[in-house]
This record gives sequence, structure tokens and C-alpha cells, in this order.
Amino acid sequence: MAEHVLSQNLHITARVRSFALFPGQSTALWHYAIDIDGRSLANPLLRVAHGAAVDISFDNRLAEPTTIHWHGWSLDEANDGSGLHPVAVGEQVRYRFRVTNRAGLYWYHAHPHMRTGMQVQHGMAGLLLVDDEEELALRKKLGLAWGERDIPLMLADKQIDPDNAISYKQDADDWIGNRVLVNWTSEPYLDVVAGWYRFRLANVANARMFRPAFIYDGQPLPMQLIGTDGGLLAQPWPVDDFFLGPAQRADILIDFSTLRPGSRVLLRSLEYVAMDHDGDDAVTFQPDPMADHPGAVAMGNRLDMMELRVVAATQPAQQTDIPQQLSTLVPAPVVSSWPVRHFRLRTDPDGRWFINDWNFHSNGHAAVFSVKRGAREVWEIRNEMTSMPHPIHLHGFQFRVVSRSISPPDIRSRMVADAGLGPQDLGVADTVVVWPGEIVRIAIDFAQAFTGTQRYMFHCHNLEHEDKGMMVMFAVTD
Ligand code: C2O
Ligand code: CU
Ligand code: CU
Repeated sequence: MAEHVLSQNLHITARVRSFALFPGQSTALWHYAIDIDGRSLANPLLRVAHGAAVDISFDNRLAEPTTIHWHGWSLDEANDGSGLHPVAVGEQVRYRFRVTNRAGLYWYHAHPHMRTGMQVQHGMAGLLLVDDEEELALRKKLGLAWGERDIPLMLADKQIDPDNAISYKQDADDWIGNRVLVNWTSEPYLDVVAGWYRFRLANVANARMFRPAFIYDGQPLPMQLIGTDGGLLAQPWPVDDFFLGPAQRADILIDFSTLRPGSRVLLRSLEYVAMDHDGDDAVTFQPDPMADHPGAVAMGNRLDMMELRVVAATQPAQQTDIPQQLSTLVPAPVVSSWPVRHFRLRTDPDGRWFINDWNFHSNGHAAVFSVKRGAREVWEIRNEMTSMPHPIHLHGFQFRVVSRSISPPDIRSRMVADAGLGPQDLGVADTVVVWPGEIVRIAIDFAQAFTGTQRYMFHCHNLEHEDKGMMVMFAVTD
């Protein structure tokens, strides 16, 4: 995966070109291109330092409107790149802003009204990496060089037809695919040496939730979870596997030092029950209709994503000590006095998705409520008992998860802190999975440096749910 510094005077073009993604015929990929020094980078990982000012001109050379949405970044409405500000065919716009987020892995993707699923499936996504001093200090302590022992893994599944074309059906449900791409590579493998590695996983699939684990000899290797969507946790947490819903990220450390050259490790998505609350009804999730996804592994079934091959090291492994304090992240706030806003995730007999009684197609771009800038609120998100997990995403603000109740057994069993929270709930987030039956509370501080009315989206990041209207617009006002 190519990499580039996100800076002043960067020029990005949305366009379609063919790439050799699979053996045989090439695959047309809609993508963000940077042409520089006679080279062309497709969907590069963009690196930026916390606090940097960026100024990007963006040309849309697709055959339909698109945007660049900077997923997870705290921006004003005009720069957020949501469906509110589509870039017309042939038009050029500028995104100009300062990056104020903590160090961490974020991502960018297209977000045009009702076409987000289509465009992301066709390739319109890439990673963003923010660094800050705290992160650089940790990196130095760990001694794991970026790009060598500290590696981003961008996970996606695509439905590939016999001619190697990406297929997608507008208005389908939960688009899953028959091929996994890691950093745009199919059937990927990575040579690793015995020693510690840091992997930063991002789920950029349209709808598939992963449950990643590194399997050696049939067993998951222990990992340390060190970060989530919005950067480093305060301390590392041991995990064997975790759930990564669409749009979520996880930063982990893993030790291969006991493995001999020649050993094979698999990055696998483990089986899980995707649908019901108790796990005993055995309602298996079937994409609708499965006929659109020939060869795809059903959601929640075991899926191998990548192979890691242990090779002999050319240098002796250096010691890696994992500090018990990773960052100065403070605990989630005490929210007992904060006002609570309620959201119910639901469907209707016609299979339309709603947040409360709102469906984006009925409410359109009008804000359905507003929040005073600087207010602090708890948002309580409740899922139906029999439903599916929804990865719920907030634009404009990062948040903290403060409680989880009525969680399914596999979530409850991961609890490591009060109020039903698992290790992934202890970090800074922009996307939270709400499981069937669950009530999840998040704390949001609506302080921001912008003025005037700024409109943001709050939606399910299962992109087919989003495109079908499981999304609301709200306003932040003076
Ligand atoms: Cu990843 Cu509305 O965004
Ligand atoms: Cu977003
Ligand atoms: Cu959903």
C-alpha cells in the first residue's frame, strides 16, 4: 500500500482505473489518486502530524457525485465531506482544515447520498494516520519501526464476478463479498520474524463484521489491545480476539518470538452468532439474497484473511518492553448529571431501517434535533432483541462508551470494567457496535472550535443500512 504525507497543496483526483488485483483479468477500481513525481498513488495511506494544517484540492472525475469524508476527524460541516456537500461530476473543491485529533488510525471514504455503499465497494477508501508526541514516544519505546514491524491492515471483502469485476447491487442488504483484500491485496501473506509486531486493523468492509484472531496451531495467539478508533488506550489489555465492526479500528501488539522459522500463523475472523440475542435460536445471518454473493462466506462464519510466515531473522531480536502506561488518556467522564438523549434502532415490516422514527429518506437533510455547542450529553442507543449488530457512527466528535447493558453472552463475557465494558470500550471511539438486545450509552462532549450551525450525521456504518436511511442529521448550534 502506497503512503503519502497529507499536507498543504495536495491534489487528489477521484477516478477509475484498472489494477491487477487478482490473477487473470484486471479489475476496475474507483479510487482516490495522487499523481506525484511521475508516479500515481491509488488510495494511499495519508500520514499527518497532529496540529498540521492541510489544504487539498479534490477533482471528481467519476461519472457521479462523490466526496472525501475524513472518518473520525473533528471537522466543520463544510470539510466533513458528508453527503451534505457532494462534489459534482467534473467539479473541483478544496478541503482546508487543521487536524486536531489524537494520534491514531483513521480513514477516508466516499459519502455521497445513497451511493456510499456502491462507491466504497468499488474502492473509494484509504487510511489516515495521525502521529503526535505521545505516539512517537511510545513507538520509540517499543522499537517497532513503522512499515516493518508496525503495519496497518486494511480489511475489506469484495464480491468479485468471474471476470474479476467488483459487483454491487444498489438497494441490496448487507453487501458481503467472496474475496478478502488486505491492503488491496488478495490472498495476502506477510513474512514475519520471531519477535513483537504491532498491527493496526481497520475494517473498511461495507457490512461484514470481523472477529480477528491470530491463529497458530489451531489456537489464538495472545494479543495486547493498545488502541481503538481514536488512538491509544491508557493501558494494554490482553485479548485473544475481538470484534471489529465496519469502520472500527484496533491497534494491537503480538509476540511471535516463540515461533520457529517455517511456522504459519493465520489472521482469521472467528465464527460468531450475528443475529439473535441469546445465541440459542440459531438464526443464522443470511445476506439477502445469498444468490448475489456466490462463493461468499456467510456473515459470522469463519473466514481466513491473511497468512503470516515466520522466517529466520537476519538480526537478533531486540527486547520489546510494553509499558504499562501507554498514554495519558483519562477515564471516561462521570455522566450522572448529563442529560440523556434516546435512540432506538429498529426495522419495520418492509425491511426499512430507522433510528427512532427517523429514516433519512423521509427526513432528508433537515436536522432532526440540535445540540448546543459545548453541551455534554449521554446518547443512549438501544437495539432490538432480535436484530443484527449495528456499528453506529457519529460524525464530528469522538466519544467514550460509558455503559453496555443486556449484552449477548459473547459480549458480556468480555467485560473487564464496570458497567459492562470490554477492553475496546475503554478507548476513544467514533463507531460503536450495538448488539441485539443491547443498550449502549456513550458520552459526547460537543465542545468545538467552530462557530455557527454545523450539521453532522449519525448513522449505522453498515453502508447498506446507511444508504437505506438508517441515518439522521443533527445540528450543533451556538
Ligand atoms: Cu465513515 Cu458517515 O462515515
Ligand atoms: Cu464518519
Ligand atoms: Cu445497521
